[in-house]
Amino acid sequence: MTMPVILRTVAELRGHVRAWKAAGQTVGVVPTMGALHEGHLSLARRARAECGRVITTIFVNPKQFNNPEDLKKYPRTEEADAALLATVPVDVIFAPSPEEVYPEGYSTNVTVAGVSEPLEGKMRPGHFDGVATVVTKLFGMTMADRGYFGQKDWQQLQVVQKLVLDLNLPVQVVGCETIREADGLAMSSRNIRLGEAARQQAPVLYAAITAAADDIRAGQSDRMAIREAAEKMRAAGFERVEYIELRDAGTLLPSDDPTRPRRMLAAAWLDGVRLIDNIPV
Ligand code: PAJ
Repeated sequence: MTMPVILRTVAELRGHVRAWKAAGQTVGVVPTMGALHEGHLSLARRARAECGRVITTIFVNPKQFNNPEDLKKYPRTEEADAALLATVPVDVIFAPSPEEVYPEGYSTNVTVAGVSEPLEGKMRPGHFDGVATVVTKLFGMTMADRGYFGQKDWQQLQVVQKLVLDLNLPVQVVGCETIREADGLAMSSRNIRLGEAARQQAPVLYAAITAAADDIRAGQSDRMAIREAAEKMRAAGFERVEYIELRDAGTLLPSDDPTRPRRMLAAAWLDGVRLIDNIPV
């Protein structure tokens, strides 16, 4: 199997992309932080099916970590990632150093007001500024026509969609379905940190919000349904339910209007691991 070429600098990347564009090929980018699993690969496969050329970026973005310990602990598995991406296959892996992305004197920050603020934005101050900044830069570096993102990180997807709209970036953002384990647990690079017993209980997060969404559609009050979901999770051993919220799917503002697309989003701690999930309502 031929391995995708790994590029470290923007100059090299631009060389490749210019040649592709001169040949009339559309370019898709799949931004990741590595430690790849089936969720990431599903994005890369979708890009492969829809674009002439595919770039996967692997960059553990220091700007989006509000906890330095978390940044240090983040798994780095480039060789295994490259082997997985060869199965798709992607054309190029762009894996720059932190200095290549944020050289000495770097000073621009992208803030998407509104949609960045609640939920994950409140729990992780500065996180979405870091995401919005690096995604804007990755779009500029790759000159991609399409960018692929997972619905697993629903709020992130809305932030990226809003920044592309507001800044007139010539990128089509594609939101892809959440890939789950057979028992319903959304795939995440954090799942391996769960102990055996916690791993058995983790699917309760998805089961509880799914049941709550069903109950709301059947006419139960939002508050009651959400309270029951939180109780189920605590009974299953989740040590903390950070939030379970029913929101407007686009703005993420509170919504009690069932005629508009809504999303139920949740974050909770199990066995010292922070898990998030979301579903349509
Ligand atoms: P990362 O957590 O590596 O995720 C990369 C992409 O994979 C994101 O778009 C995420 O939503 C998607 N993804 C993760 N798990 C998924 C699953 N189970 N099903 C479908 N898609 C899934 O998200 C980031 O990196 C970073 O914030 C990034 C956008 C790369 C900016 O640094």
